Amino acid sequence: MSLPIVDTFGRKHTYLRISLTDKCNLRCTYCMPQEDMHFMPSKWLMQAEEIKALAEIFVGMGVDKIRLTGGEPLIRKDVGQIVSDLGKLPTSLTLTTNAVFIDQFIDNLKEAGVNSLNVSLDTLREDRFIAVTKRDHFTKTTGNIRLLLNEGFVVKINMVVMKGINDDEVNDFVRMTLEEPNLHVRFIEFMPFKGNQWDMSKIVSYNDLLSEINNEFDFQQLTGELQDTAHRFQVTGGAGTFGIIGTVTHPFCSGCNRIRLTADGKLKNCLFDTSEVDLLTPLRAGQDVRALIYAHFHKKHFAHGGHVDFTEKHAKSDYEQNRNMIAIGG
Ligand code: GTP
Ligand code: 5AD
Ligand code: SF4
Repeated sequence: MSLPIVDTFGRKHTYLRISLTDKCNLRCTYCMPQEDMHFMPSKWLMQAEEIKALAEIFVGMGVDKIRLTGGEPLIRKDVGQIVSDLGKLPTSLTLTTNAVFIDQFIDNLKEAGVNSLNVSLDTLREDRFIAVTKRDHFTKTTGNIRLLLNEGFVVKINMVVMKGINDDEVNDFVRMTLEEPNLHVRFIEFMPFKGNQWDMSKIVSYNDLLSEINNEFDFQQLTGELQDTAHRFQVTGGAGTFGIIGTVTHPFCSGCNRIRLTADGKLKNCLFDTSEVDLLTPLRAGQDVRALIYAHFHKKHFAHGGHVDFTEKHAKSDYEQNRNMIAIGG
């Protein structure tokens, strides 16, 4: 066992997010540019055995939770193999997915010990789903969320709340949690990434979300861990929970425990840090990549890739230098 990955602020990094592809079968407006999106050539991608080798190295450095992301992880042809391989590691394994293909992977996921999934769903209305995702997969997505719940999985729904687009549906999402103990909805403040037309005026803030929910429901805050993205709540007498991921107005950087590996094998020490370190080329050359990992986390900033406020002028120029969200994986 190697030393854990600790930064200069004492944060221990135990949660690895591996992006399997930058491609997706949806085209969500908040995640990718609507024009001029250049996807990675397949030869840049980490191969299944390289993902396994890097995951094993990270597990040796103290990682105890792995999340597979995309783009959409389930469009990758060898995802079943990757899930099986990583399921054998002594970590929890989970995915963030749009659920369009999830019905084809139920057995694979169960066999690999996956029992909880995060699913993106921003609206309960079919016409809006098509407007946001530019694809006609509403029935498939919602049917597959039902299937996951029926099969006993815990499902966390990620809803990116955007002013004037879907913010009138917040309480409809909260209502879904009342009867479903395994359903947890998280409302996410819209975050800035290259090409996603972010503007502060488009976000619905943590505080505004809570007061909107308070108009209709009584609820209590639940206790959580410092590293949680969401502050969680439960409607009085409700079965599931709702949470708010307030990256913009309520950042959770002080508890950050995340490590990101992009689909082309670059290490990111923060969702918003633009200085990436290539792990794939040295891995292919047979080098020990651990020193690169320690050094990169030693340089990690305290907040948001170095910024406390996205509206600062220099912060804006930085997130425009970052990858598109679809090429990071959330
Ligand atoms: P859990 O394991 O359920 O806590 O998942 P998660 O919330 O870490 O992951 P998920 O992929 O569902 O992401 C939900 C939202 O949180 C997305 O909008 C992510 O971009 C955001 N998010 C995840 N990790 C980070 C992070 O380290 N920093 C920031 N600022 N946002 C993050
Ligand atoms: N702001 C906030 N969350 C986002 N996601 C994608 N793009 C954004 C954004 N601009 C979320 C999706 C997905 C998760 C990985 O990231 O909801 O579920
Ligand atoms: Fe695809 Fe998820 Fe991005 Fe939507 S948010 S385009 S589903 S990767």
